[in-house]
Parts: sequence; C-alpha cells; structure tokens
Amino acid sequence: MAPAFATRAVHAGASPDPVTGAVISPISLSTTYKQAAPAVPIGSYEYSRSSNPNRVEFEAAVAALENGRYGLAFSSGSATTAVVLQALAPPGSHVISGADVYGGTHRYFTKVAQSHALQVSFTTNLVRDISTLVRPGSTRLIWVETPSNPTLAITDIAAVAQLARQHDLLLVVDNTFLSPYLQTPLALGADVVVHSVTKFINGHSDVVMGVAVVNDDGLHANLAFLQNAIGAVPSAFDSWLAHRGLKTLHLRVRAASENALRIALALADQVPSGKVLQVNYPGLKSHPGREVVKLQHRNGSGGGMISFRIAGGINAASAFTTATRYFTLAESLGGIESLIEIPALMTHAGIHEADRQKVGVYDDLIRLSVGIEDGDDLVNDILQALDRATGDHFLEIG
Ligand SMILES: Cc1ncc(COP(=O)(O)O)c(C=O)c1O
Repeated sequence: MAPAFATRAVHAGASPDPVTGAVISPISLSTTYKQAAPAVPIGSYEYSRSSNPNRVEFEAAVAALENGRYGLAFSSGSATTAVVLQALAPPGSHVISGADVYGGTHRYFTKVAQSHALQVSFTTNLVRDISTLVRPGSTRLIWVETPSNPTLAITDIAAVAQLARQHDLLLVVDNTFLSPYLQTPLALGADVVVHSVTKFINGHSDVVMGVAVVNDDGLHANLAFLQNAIGAVPSAFDSWLAHRGLKTLHLRVRAASENALRIALALADQVPSGKVLQVNYPGLKSHPGREVVKLQHRNGSGGGMISFRIAGGINAASAFTTATRYFTLAESLGGIESLIEIPALMTHAGIHEADRQKVGVYDDLIRLSVGIEDGDDLVNDILQALDRATGDHFLEIG
C-alpha cells in the first residue's frame, strides 16, 4: 500500500547518511565533486549547479507529495515560471492564462515574455473560453492558478485538462495557494505543477525558492536541460531548509485552514452589519466554486488564504491593515505567521486599475494569509481591527 501523505512528507527523499548514520542529511556545500578519472565522477555528482544532494532530496520529496515522478527546483517561483515558459512555449507561440494570476506571473506574461514574441490571452473563465481563445497552430499551453490570487476564484482543473487534451495543449497549474496537501493537479490531468516554495512548502518565510513537478520523461528532460543551462537553481542551504519545512506541511496547512475557516465565517457574519462587503473563501458554502472545491481539494478544505472587501474604501482598508496585532502587514503568504496586505497597493499594484477591477481586485480588497497561531486570538484580532477601521466610517455615514 502506498504510504499516506504525512508519511511521505516525513520520509520521501530523506534517508540516514550511509557514511555517518546521520538521521538528517548534512548540508552539502561543495560546489564540485572529485572524479575517479576524467569524466568519471565518483558518485552521482559533478558540479553543484547541475545537481546537488540537498536539492535532489528536496526534489524527490516534492515529487512524492505531488504524486509526480520528477521534481525540479529553482531559485524562486518566478524563475520556475520563466523556465517553464521558455521550455514549453517557443517564440511566437500563444498561451491562454487565467486572468487573476499572481501579479509577478502577469508581469512576466505582459512585460518579459513579449521579448520572446510570446502572446497571452487572459480570461476569468477558462472552462468557458478556451475553445474560443485557442489559436490553431500557435496556442501551446494553458496556465491556471486555482484558487486564484487574490480573489480565490476556483477553476475546475479536470475540466480544463479535458479541454487541453482536446486541443492538444499542455496544462500548467500553479499550486502555490493550496500546496500538495490540499490539491494534486497532476492527478487531475495537468502536465506541469509549479510552486513558489517560498510560501506553504517551506512555510517559515525564510527561503525564496520554486519547484516544478512533471510525470513525462520528455518534459523532464527539457526542464532539466534548462535548469542547468540557465542556472537559476537554489542553494544547498535553501534546499535543506525547504526540505525541513516540507516535512510538517500537512500539520501547518491543516492548522492554517482550520483557522482560516473560522475567520472567514466571522467575517461573513459581519456582512449584514455592512462593515464587510464580501468574503472570498473557498471553504464557505456560499463560494461559487464550492462544488468543484469539494471534488478538487482534500476534505473540501478552503486552505489558508482569504480575501474580503471592507466598507469604507481604501482608507478603511489601510486602517485595518495597521490595526491588527497578530496579522503583520507584509507581502507573501503561506508561513506559520499570519500576514495581511492590500493587493491593489502591494502585490498587484503593477496591474492596471481597470484590469484589476475587472477581476475583482478593488482598492478595498484585503488579503489574509492565515497562520497557525491560536484560532481564538486570530478571530478576535480580526474583529477588533474591523471595529477600529470601520468605526469612523460608520459614524460619518450614520
Ligand atoms: C501564486 C504564486 N506563484 C508564484 C509566485 C512567485 O514566487 P516567488 O516569489 O518565489 O518568485 C508567487 C509569489 O508570491 C505566488 O504567490
């Protein structure tokens, strides 16, 4: 019987050192490896950009958690995106992407990929629009982020995978927001899964790193070639740290998701009072993607990310983000500590206002990355900040 997720998280890619018996792998800092004769390495390593023991262990562990055959680690999630696009979308090709992807992915598509003559069509509804947007002969791949960032919209990966097969396209899924504990896109028909490891997989806000996971031998060879040729690889130390973080992924994501559901319910309770305009959380029964969530996420969990619109516009949103005690005002997500930000001013500021608003990223939208602190403390923190941030507004209009 295949080991369950928690067992894989602890053991995959990790085995005691055969020389010393060390239970935890040493960090292998050497950049180069002795050869027995010219071009005859002693072991499996030659030069650390090409391959490194800590990176190999981390890659094997992530692949095992994503139910994939091959993991390839990169120096950031953004470098992963760049390499995957370079590998799979040759100059002149066309990509279909979800509209509310991570701001940096949108920036790469619109500002960097242009120099490779890559064309991108964005849509808020991939399942509905793929067949219309496909350009026969030039469309190569579909890029999905689900839940989307920051509005937590859900895309049905299995339905998109079916359309991708029908049109002979590759499907890439950015699985950063849920992590492999809650969603495994390869099992739903995706060809490539990418992550910003910086987020839930490492989970401690102290490593910038990315990873891609694939099953296909040809895709693996293509990505491995560019991983070495471009050289955007993580250090041995970062690989070791991220592997350590990954071993507790299931515990952290479970705790964060439980806290997030409580906070989302508490915020939804505030909608009738008018202090909260809208709550986006895939764990709520009212979420429009709830039926897909139940099929696609482990136990129908909503994950650790929430966004909501606060009454009182940008001023109330700003006041809220500085009134919380345990939610730190900072970009990024997926760490053990709770973070808060305003996408329109921070992570998604680079996207033109009209494009932002089209996908629901209004100035009053607040994004929460819920950590693993005590749930009561977090709920109380959110409610007291809401009172403080909307108090004046309600006095003014009252
Ligand atoms: C969903 C998603 N994908 C990719 C990235 C890029 O990752 P990195 O910051 O590690 O380059 C991010 C970063 O915030 C992200 O949120």
